[in-house]
Amino acid sequence: MTSFNKRVLLITGGAGFIGSHVVRLFVNKYPEYKIINLDKLTYAGNLANLKDIEDKPNYRFVRMDICDFEGVLKLMQEEQVDGIIHLAAESHVDRSIKDPFTFAQTNVMGTLSLLQAAKTFWESQPTPYVISHETTVNVPCRFYHISTDEVYGALEMTHPEGIEPPFTTKASSGKHHLAYGEKFFTEDLKYQPHSPYSAAKASSDHFVRAFHDTFGMPTIVTNCSNNYGPYQFPEKLIPLFINNIRHRKPLPVYGKGENVRDWLYVEDHARAIDLIFHEGKVAETYNIGGFNEWKNIDIIKVIIQTVNKALGRVKLETSETGETIETYPDMDLITYVTDRAGHDLRYAIDSSKLQRELGWEPSLQFEEGIEKTVRWYLDNQPWMDNVTSGDYQKYYEDMYKGR
Ligand SMILES: NC(=O)c1ccc[n+]([C@@H]2O[C@H](COP(=O)([O-])OP(=O)(O)OC[C@H]3O[C@@H](n4cnc5c(N)ncnc54)[C@H](O)[C@@H]3O)[C@@H](O)[C@H]2O)c1
Repeated sequence: MTSFNKRVLLITGGAGFIGSHVVRLFVNKYPEYKIINLDKLTYAGNLANLKDIEDKPNYRFVRMDICDFEGVLKLMQEEQVDGIIHLAAESHVDRSIKDPFTFAQTNVMGTLSLLQAAKTFWESQPTPYVISHETTVNVPCRFYHISTDEVYGALEMTHPEGIEPPFTTKASSGKHHLAYGEKFFTEDLKYQPHSPYSAAKASSDHFVRAFHDTFGMPTIVTNCSNNYGPYQFPEKLIPLFINNIRHRKPLPVYGKGENVRDWLYVEDHARAIDLIFHEGKVAETYNIGGFNEWKNIDIIKVIIQTVNKALGRVKLETSETGETIETYPDMDLITYVTDRAGHDLRYAIDSSKLQRELGWEPSLQFEEGIEKTVRWYLDNQPWMDNVTSGDYQKYYEDMYKGR
């Protein structure tokens, strides 16, 4: 841990899904820090995600576009920002297929603009803010870029029936514990992005590393697998399906539902970000994930079972052998639809470097995490209604007018 007690951190995209968990963790855990949440509040940004901490004295929200170079530079100067955790991005693959320009603008140009603003401000400061190739450890300023495992492209599914994975974590310690191939994404793998989203994220990762290699900017990049948990915008699989099951609406499953993803509870990602921001080595890349692979169709079945149990919809039937078995009536909501263009078959991340070097482990077992997540969406129906009706977009005007 660095010896700086008072820090001013700029967290971008803090009104989004993962960003809101990171902001909450830092605001509560580090009352001596000042946390500035910079967010443009696109359709994916929702300040209601941060209701519980918005009045804390060490928190400030600024509505701004990361592409606004002058605005960001002025804010950094005014607040004397010494650390950046950059999460702001366009994040939905389906949207990137419809509108790749917005993804290049925000994810590539926005990241570049933020890097250039940080470089301009930090270079203008007396030591210890000076950036140089020599000061690669324990430098006070730090640019931490949050990226995705999707930049690595797709892995082959050599074992569709599943094999024993090489590694276990708390996340994957449940009944289902399989890998669907022998290869995993490691930090040294070549980037092979396939979607406009992952191509834009890959490009932003390259810019971040280039700012280290060219200017000595103290950067860190992490690539994380799929996150799940509270406050996720319901265009993404898990909240969308929980809400659809609740309202008995069809569950559109791409292709045959065979695509494999590694899943991590969002608070475990936030904990990893905290650890890496403080103790990660400058210029390093760390993969974050749970060694927790699931086929989409299997995850959907777990969600249906969990929601049906929570809503008391489980039926008891007698099998041919006379046994009493549970059945889940909402299984028939599953509707197979045409696959997403260029849909990557398998993502599986190897996060053993992070475990080995910094001692991070997921804290939550997956089925427990899903149960917790289902419970949260069912208990927070007003949050869901607010998002699905579009009312959340008025929250900023209501909350911040006159401030
Ligand atoms: N969700 C995942 O499973 C996952 C996994 C790995 C990595 N990531 C990465 O983590 C980050 C956060 O993902 P998320 O799922 O929370 O995304 P999200 O879509 O929920 O949130 C993105 C946030 O960024 C803000 N934003 C968008 N464009 C902006 C701009 N131009 N200026 C300022 N703010 C802007 C939005 O208003 C929103 O609050 C992204 O960089 C994403 O690539 C996500």
